[in-house]
Amino acid sequence: MEDSKNPDFIEQFFLNCGFATRALHAGEHVGQPHTPAHNTPIYQSSTFIFQNADHGAAIFKGEVPGYVYTRMGNPTVMALEGKINALEGGQWKLDHPNDLIATLAFSSGMAAISAALMACAKAGDTILMGDVVYGATEHLCSHVLCNYGVSTVEVHMSDLEAVEAAIKANPKAKLIFFEMPMNPTLELVDIPAVVKLVRATNPEMRVIVDNTFATPYLQRPLEMGADLVVHSTTKYIGGHGAVVGGLATTRHESVKNELYKVIKDIGSNPSPFDSWLVNMGLKTLPIRMDKHCSNAMAVARFLEKHPKVETVYYPGLESHPQHALAKKQMADFGGMLSFELTGGFGAGKKLMDTIEIFTLAVSLGCVDSLIQHPASMTHASVPKEKKLKGGITDGLVRVSVGIEDPEDLINALDNALKKV
Ligand SMILES: Cc1ncc(COP(=O)(O)O)c(C=O)c1O
Repeated sequence: MEDSKNPDFIEQFFLNCGFATRALHAGEHVGQPHTPAHNTPIYQSSTFIFQNADHGAAIFKGEVPGYVYTRMGNPTVMALEGKINALEGGQWKLDHPNDLIATLAFSSGMAAISAALMACAKAGDTILMGDVVYGATEHLCSHVLCNYGVSTVEVHMSDLEAVEAAIKANPKAKLIFFEMPMNPTLELVDIPAVVKLVRATNPEMRVIVDNTFATPYLQRPLEMGADLVVHSTTKYIGGHGAVVGGLATTRHESVKNELYKVIKDIGSNPSPFDSWLVNMGLKTLPIRMDKHCSNAMAVARFLEKHPKVETVYYPGLESHPQHALAKKQMADFGGMLSFELTGGFGAGKKLMDTIEIFTLAVSLGCVDSLIQHPASMTHASVPKEKKLKGGITDGLVRVSVGIEDPEDLINALDNALKKV
C-alpha cells in the first residue's frame, strides 16, 4: 500500500504535526472501512457483518482485526479514540516509540473515572483521592466503591508534604487520583512533583489525573509521567454542551486491558453519534481554548478590581497563590474561575438570578458562559465539613467563561453586581 494510504503511516505522520493539525486530522483514518466520506461517518449500527463463519470466529479470537458489536468497538468511536491518543499522548509516543498509548471512550466522564478506578484497584485495596474533586467522584468512593472493599484516603493535593505523608502512610495504595486544576476552587497540583514522590516510595502506584478543566491543549499529564488521564468530554472537549461523554488514555497495556473489560462487561461504551459529536468538537479545541482563556483572564481582571468582590480564584492572576506553578505547567490558564462576593451567598444568589448572558446551569466548558453555585449544585453531595475544608464555601460562585465578546460578559457582570 502507498504510504499516503496506509492508516499506520498516516497516524505516525500526524504525530509529527502541531496540536491544531492533529486535532483536525488524527484519528480520522484509524480502523475505518474505506469510504470516500470527507468526515468520519457515524456508524450507527449495533452489529457488524462477518465475511463468513471462519472470519467471524477469527475476529472473536483476536486473530484478525474487525468489528463485532458496538459495545466492543465501533469505527466512529475508534476515530475519536485515535484523535485523543494523538493529542493527549502524541508527544509521549514520539519520545517513547516502543511504548503503548491507548485511549478508550466512555458514555460519560463518570464512566471513565469509575473504569479507571476499577482498572487499578480491587477488593481490599486502598486508593488515595484528592479531597477537592467533582461531587460524583467523591460520592463514587464514599458510597459505591466502599461497598466493594475499596477504601479511600483523602489528600489535599496542593500540599506536597501532605501528599508525601499520605503516600508513606499507605505504602500499598494502588493509585492516587486528582483533578488539576481542582473543581471548583482552581487550586493546582504539581504533577511532576507528585509523580516523583510516588515513584520514590511506591513505583507500582498509578497516578491518575482528571484533565477535564485543562484539556490536552493546556496540559498533558502523560508527558509529566502520569499513568492515566481521564476526561469528561461533556466539557471543553465536546465543547458545545450537546453531549455527555468520557475518555481515558493510558500508557500501560495492563491498564488498557482492564479498562476495556469494564467497557465490554459493564457496557459503559459511548454511542456512535455522541462520539461523532465529540470528535467534531475536538477539531476546534485549540481556537476555542485560546478564546476561553483570554476571556477568562479579562473577566478575572474585572472581578479582581470590583469592590463587591472579596476574592477571585483564577490561576492566571498574579494574586493566585500558585500562579508560578500554573505558568510552569500549563500552556495557558483555562476558562474556569470562581469568586466570593463581599455579601456572601445571599449576594451570589442575587447575582445568579439577575445576570444576563451567563446561563444559570451546571456543567462547564461550553462555548457559551455558564454560572453556578457549587455548594448547592455540583458539590451538593459532598458533606459540608469536607466542602469547607477544601474551600468550597457557601459564598463561592463558579463561572465557566464562554467565547462571547469579552466586553459583553464584563458588562453583564457589572450590571448584575450593581443589583447585588
Ligand atoms: C472535573 C470533572 N470531572 C468529571 C466530571 C464528570 O463528568 P460527566 O458529567 O461527563 O460524567 C465532571 C462533571 O462536571 C467534572 O467537572
